[in-house]
Amino acid sequence: DKGNHRHFMQKEIYEQPVVVAQTLKAYLQRMDDRVSLPIPDFDLSAIRRVTIVACGTSYYAGMVAKYWFEQFARVPVDIDVASEFRYRAPVMEDGGLMIVISQSGETADTLAALRHAREEGQKIAAVVNVPTSTMAREADLLLPTNAGPEIGVASTKAFTCQLAVLAAFAANLARAKGRLDAKAEKELVRHLAEAPAAINGALAYDEAIEAMAHHIVPARDVLYLGRGTDYPLALEGALKLKEISYIHAEGYAAGEMKHGPIALIDELVPVIVIAPSGPLFEKTVSNMQEVQARGGKVVLISDYDGVQAAGEGCLATITMPKVHPLIAPMVYAVPVQLLAYHVAVLKGTDVDQPRNLAKSVTVE
Ligand code: F6R
Repeated sequence: DKGNHRHFMQKEIYEQPVVVAQTLKAYLQRMDDRVSLPIPDFDLSAIRRVTIVACGTSYYAGMVAKYWFEQFARVPVDIDVASEFRYRAPVMEDGGLMIVISQSGETADTLAALRHAREEGQKIAAVVNVPTSTMAREADLLLPTNAGPEIGVASTKAFTCQLAVLAAFAANLARAKGRLDAKAEKELVRHLAEAPAAINGALAYDEAIEAMAHHIVPARDVLYLGRGTDYPLALEGALKLKEISYIHAEGYAAGEMKHGPIALIDELVPVIVIAPSGPLFEKTVSNMQEVQARGGKVVLISDYDGVQAAGEGCLATITMPKVHPLIAPMVYAVPVQLLAYHVAVLKGTDVDQPRNLAKSVTVE
């Protein structure tokens, strides 16, 4: 049931504040300011290495999480798409944890990677949205996302819930490794608990994003740029746009622009720049200005400070609430999803059932 929404995708985008809150409930003990796991006595202290494997949007959630595991827990992270992981000769040592991320819990390549890692003696954690799925059953540590059924083929609410789980899991791992004192843990819990309200704040810009979508509709190609955790978001933005609007889109690490893709820039290629204010902002803005100097039309997605500092000369700006960097990926996912959604609606494509795509990819 779509309720009063036009499409399941729109409904699921709007459900995000509620389902992220619902998901976090299993991982945050707000009363005593601690993060926790659904299996409280699962021992993480011996984990020396993390391998993340997933496909598509779930893979991009994993890419964001890599920054968190490394930053908070100082544990090295290897990440790959499942279809590549299977066919290389990945080195899996003792003390390794594999994390598979999957909405459906049935994606064939991800499941095969899980089974391969198990044979190699890895512990398996599964961030999965369908609790009865094969991956959920085969994991040592089930880390459920509580997004509820996702009907739209383009993944939205499952992605933000995956991010919520992975952030909380990274904090758990950091504590188990002795890298998170009680004060820092309390801070993290406080920031994570703010995510649902901040996502709600991002949804308030829906109309502005819809108005902006008109500029994207005529484009043949669109580029998305971001740095740090905004780099996977750029990839996710490009994937969302191409899969439902059929506009060719690519995401790049902002600093890679000058190593090739900048040759594509002209006034016909809109460039979506995802850049909250913060330590990486200046760097990304200088990449953005290189685009503008070549006639590129930029849409800047930032917060008030970022838009004030760099919004001039942009085709459009989208102002997100100012949030802590930990929850920024969950918040900035919203404009990226809404932009793809509105472009697709304006183009008249089948938003919930895009051509050639299946919700669950159970063949290789
Ligand atoms: C993108 C999308 C796909 C899935 C991918 C993995 O919007 O829906 O890229 O993310 O097929 O699916 P799961 O997460 O079920 O393993």
